[in-house]
Amino acid sequence: MGTKHAEFIAREQNATLVGIADPFTTSLAETTEVSSYTDYRDLLAAPDVDAVIIANPNVEHVPTALAAIEAGIPALLEKPVAVSADEASVLSLAVKASDGVILVGHHRRHHPAVAAARSMISAGELGRIVAVNGMWLTKKSADYFEQSWHRTAGAGVMLINLVHDLDLMRHLVGEVTTIQAIASNTIRGYEVEDTAAVIVSFDNGAIGTFIASDSVVAPWGWDQSTQDDPQFPFNPDTACYSIAGTDGSLAFPQLGHYYHDGESNWTHPLSRRFRATAGGDSYTRQLRHFIDVARRQSEPMVTVEDAAATLKIIESAHRSAATGELIRVQP
Ligand SMILES: NC(=O)c1ccc[n+]([C@@H]2O[C@H](COP(=O)([O-])OP(=O)(O)OC[C@H]3O[C@@H](n4cnc5c(N)ncnc54)[C@H](O)[C@@H]3O)[C@@H](O)[C@H]2O)c1
Repeated sequence: MGTKHAEFIAREQNATLVGIADPFTTSLAETTEVSSYTDYRDLLAAPDVDAVIIANPNVEHVPTALAAIEAGIPALLEKPVAVSADEASVLSLAVKASDGVILVGHHRRHHPAVAAARSMISAGELGRIVAVNGMWLTKKSADYFEQSWHRTAGAGVMLINLVHDLDLMRHLVGEVTTIQAIASNTIRGYEVEDTAAVIVSFDNGAIGTFIASDSVVAPWGWDQSTQDDPQFPFNPDTACYSIAGTDGSLAFPQLGHYYHDGESNWTHPLSRRFRATAGGDSYTRQLRHFIDVARRQSEPMVTVEDAAATLKIIESAHRSAATGELIRVQP
């Protein structure tokens, strides 16, 4: 992900890449021809650094972000914000105590289709939201798992991928109040799950189901349905979320809006119209937002506290998968 961020910075006229910190390799610093640091503390102390992007393994997120706060350097911190809710609250307290600037990298929130869906939902165009369904199903390459941290606690399809989907559902539908999960590592056989299914309820009474797997050949998922990242083949026809309300439904990200003209019941023909939006590239939009945040011209769209609320859902999902219980997500 750090390599991708370097590419986004290279395309952005208001940002210049000046250094890379990585304790294990200098390859990205060499290809981008910038200063290389083994220790991120040295990068944070460099005179030409105005802001940093933290894209190291999940277990390193909080210590690195705390060092950025201590150095007074604004940071875009990749998701998940932390690997536990307790760790996230340490970071949240540090942000408050020091007036530190952290934007968490739930990049999907910057996608124009998300803003459009949110405005349609809040304007009541779908009526009251009753049921949502989401899928993130794809096949990661074998070499992705050569990085040992991708196979062990602190990774897994729930913390790495489903975290994005549930974050968006919080953003679009409401706060998740309960979750029940089943997780499986049957295909890859690693310590962490490769596949998971969850059932959630929201504070407004809506309910939802989500399924995620990094081990299947399938077209359903954010990365295939949006043109957010050209690395992934684009599948224009398949929706990754279905959001159903008392007056209509939305196929996302196409923003196909289904509704009844006149009488509303299942024997009546369904009409469909599409809401037009700008194209994707939420990573570039996120970077531009981060530049404003780092200059203190904008408040972070995703704060540590906000991302910590999403993390609590994943933590509850892990607990549910381990115990078989329905877990009430602590606010
Ligand atoms: N927003 C997204 O769409 C998205 C996509 C992929 C990954 N991510 C996130 O980005 C982060 C990195 O994931 P990845 O898959 O690119 O991992 P990766 O293992 O491929 O890359 C991590 C890099 O960090 C380096 N590293 C390890 N320990 C370090 C340390 N202590 N300090 C600095 N660098 C260190 C490694 O050498 C490696 O180059 C994760 O938090 C992941 O969740 C986000």
